[in-house]
Amino acid sequence: MPTANGSFPQDFLWGAATASYQIEGAAREDGRGESVWDRFSATPGKVRNADSGEIACDFYHRYPQDVRLMRELGLGAFRFSIAWPRIFPTGRGRVNQAGLDFYDRLVDELLANGIEPFATLFHWDTPQALEDDGGWPARSTAAAFVEYTEAVVGRLGDRVRHWITHNEPWVHAWIGHSWGKHAPGRTSESDAVATAHHLLLSHGWAAEAIRRASPDAQVGIALNLAHTYPASDAPEDEAAAWRVDGAGNRWFLDPIFRGSYPADLLDRRELVAPFVLEGDMEAISAPIDFLGVNSYFRFVVTAADEGPKLVNPPESKVTDMGWEVYPDGLRRLLVRLSDEYSPPAIYITENGAAFGDVRGHDGRVRDPERTAYLESHIGAVSAAVTAGAPIRGYFVWSLLDNFEWAEGYSKRFGIVYVDYPTLERVPKDSFYWYRDFIATRRGAPKPSPIATG
Ligand code: FCB
Repeated sequence: MPTANGSFPQDFLWGAATASYQIEGAAREDGRGESVWDRFSATPGKVRNADSGEIACDFYHRYPQDVRLMRELGLGAFRFSIAWPRIFPTGRGRVNQAGLDFYDRLVDELLANGIEPFATLFHWDTPQALEDDGGWPARSTAAAFVEYTEAVVGRLGDRVRHWITHNEPWVHAWIGHSWGKHAPGRTSESDAVATAHHLLLSHGWAAEAIRRASPDAQVGIALNLAHTYPASDAPEDEAAAWRVDGAGNRWFLDPIFRGSYPADLLDRRELVAPFVLEGDMEAISAPIDFLGVNSYFRFVVTAADEGPKLVNPPESKVTDMGWEVYPDGLRRLLVRLSDEYSPPAIYITENGAAFGDVRGHDGRVRDPERTAYLESHIGAVSAAVTAGAPIRGYFVWSLLDNFEWAEGYSKRFGIVYVDYPTLERVPKDSFYWYRDFIATRRGAPKPSPIATG
């Protein structure tokens, strides 16, 4: 496996990613409305420990301090998301200017520190009022998303040059609408399929709205993708792996880059057919400027009686999420995306690992497994760059430990440790590794060795 020291273009962007509900807190401030995640977190039994994003990392108030940390890291770009219920507290109608003001301040702070803002419009926090009106299974939510996009881009489009419409539509559609493990907690396969279609459709419509308001903007979407391997070369395992690839990867890649749902997933196609109206596939497949790739692991698939089954090979190393550490899967994924879908540009919009970090008696957080994870995965990105994939940047998930959805605060993904009782930030060893790595890329003199505390 190549190390992180491979070659990257000089203008390659090194970033870190976050999402509104996971870090902001201030859930009731400045007119913010209720989101589906507020409602879901308040429902007993849904989130581990009954945690919620009510306070989270208090990024809403502490962002100037966090931007200073980003600057210390030498970040070229910061990916954050906008909380829709801050802008439209009741889903539609009146725009809440105080909500826009927050992102206005954040964007200015980033730019003043030389950090390029990458704004995600939807990272799963739908206004509860829209959910009550039918939510993403209803086509009207796609139209509401365009109104929201127009309000946000109208305010920030003069300074934000990179827009991500949606984050991981597969996760939001299936985990949130079929498995019931994420907000809004629905448990219907048909709702999931309709949601996926309306997310894709609203991506296409929003991309057009962004370009109208800000013609020079770069527009993309962040998909969760995992390279899929059959557990053996038995034809049943290969067929099972192809099916998982279709349901997770091609279900989104094909409509966006080819204008059609995958032909082999007949049962899903039948389910989605009633929601597909004339012109939808053209809207979804309008050219984008970049593909955002969120990737953490690979899929290893075996055929079981109940259908395809995901397995972790017995010798595999896993993170605190139980996700296999397999950097070469990222290299293969990126090369495949480039070969088969020819995106004009790719950003790795999320990659990282959770481990059970603790603060030592000396105050330091030693996280060698995370540093090793980042180093080997950046090495895989470098190998894909060398193979010709048009990769323009890499964002570590995440800058800060944060609210990890149904896992609450129990999983720590940050390169900065957050001490939740005091909200103190403690850069982990991986933070200093990333800082030194970025500095070396820039050809700057190597900064001082790892500081403590
Ligand atoms: C992704 C999400 C992100 C974070 C990471 C660990 O699925 O986009 O918000 O939770 O996983």
